[in-house]
Amino acid sequence: MMKRILLIICLLLILSLAACAPAPSPADEPYEDFIVVGFSQVGAESDWRNANTKSMQEALSEENGYRLIIDDAQQKQERQITAIRNFIHQGVDYIVLAPTTEKGWDTVLAEAKAAGIPVILVDRMIEISDDSLFNCWVGSDFLNEGRTAVRWMDQHFGDKPLRIVHLQGNIGSSAQIGRTAGLNEGLSSHPDWTLVYRESGDFTQAKGQELVEALLADGMQFDLIFSENDNMAYGAIDALKNAGLTPGKDVTIISFDASHTALEMVMNGEISFDVECNPLHGPRVEALIQRLEAGAKPPKLTYVEEGSFDTETITQSIMDSRGY
Ligand code: AHR
Repeated sequence: MMKRILLIICLLLILSLAACAPAPSPADEPYEDFIVVGFSQVGAESDWRNANTKSMQEALSEENGYRLIIDDAQQKQERQITAIRNFIHQGVDYIVLAPTTEKGWDTVLAEAKAAGIPVILVDRMIEISDDSLFNCWVGSDFLNEGRTAVRWMDQHFGDKPLRIVHLQGNIGSSAQIGRTAGLNEGLSSHPDWTLVYRESGDFTQAKGQELVEALLADGMQFDLIFSENDNMAYGAIDALKNAGLTPGKDVTIISFDASHTALEMVMNGEISFDVECNPLHGPRVEALIQRLEAGAKPPKLTYVEEGSFDTETITQSIMDSRGY
């Protein structure tokens, strides 16, 4: 009897030890056939961001030979820095970083370099003293996006007086810096355009709606909303409609991203002009990793080609082919 009890205790002990065993690290067996990629993602603040995450998951899939570890930073740079340190500790093969803001990366990227882990930047850019701290970047020309929007405004309003509400993205992100710089150029060259309000809506629909609701409650008069992404534009449109205004008629809406939902709004005239920001970076990052794997040096910077759409140029076939 005693022997049987001892046997049972031993079995229980073995089982509980197995349950406590640490999760496999990239150096362990389940990872060894894969290229392990740690991806520090900004967050899930917009449709664009969700499409970007999905594109990365599809391209860096197990079927394609990758083990992808995604960390959602909830739009906080401190969280991204912690995630990168964790990736270094785990010994991943590559770090992919979609940076929240441009500044503040020198120390942690020097740590990645010291650990011999290649770093690929995606979407936004960083401002760094030593550009050997990242291998390559793929993303958008945000200043060009801002200038494209201003060109459309110039063609449609010229030197007419224009009262502009500016909803900015996350302050300090390349998407905000570039698009804001584009608008600032337009304001300087059009003395009759007036910036009546400028505030960050954090790239979220909820904040976009909240800001415009507050403006309307204050009785502010404006002709155009320059929204630095589609989700903030959706919020602004809801606020206008709730106040009995017609977006596209009473107030012109300019937006960025050109996601499928936004293009439907271009089609029905609620958004007047939308500048594309393409989120489908997964296959581009995959191609960069493959070049690095082959020992080649990919181009340091790759800008993605992007279009723009207004009520006259949008077509059903553009809408149908839009994958995000
Ligand atoms: O960096 C790209 C921007 O980030 C997109 O315009 C916005 O929707 C996203 O959150």
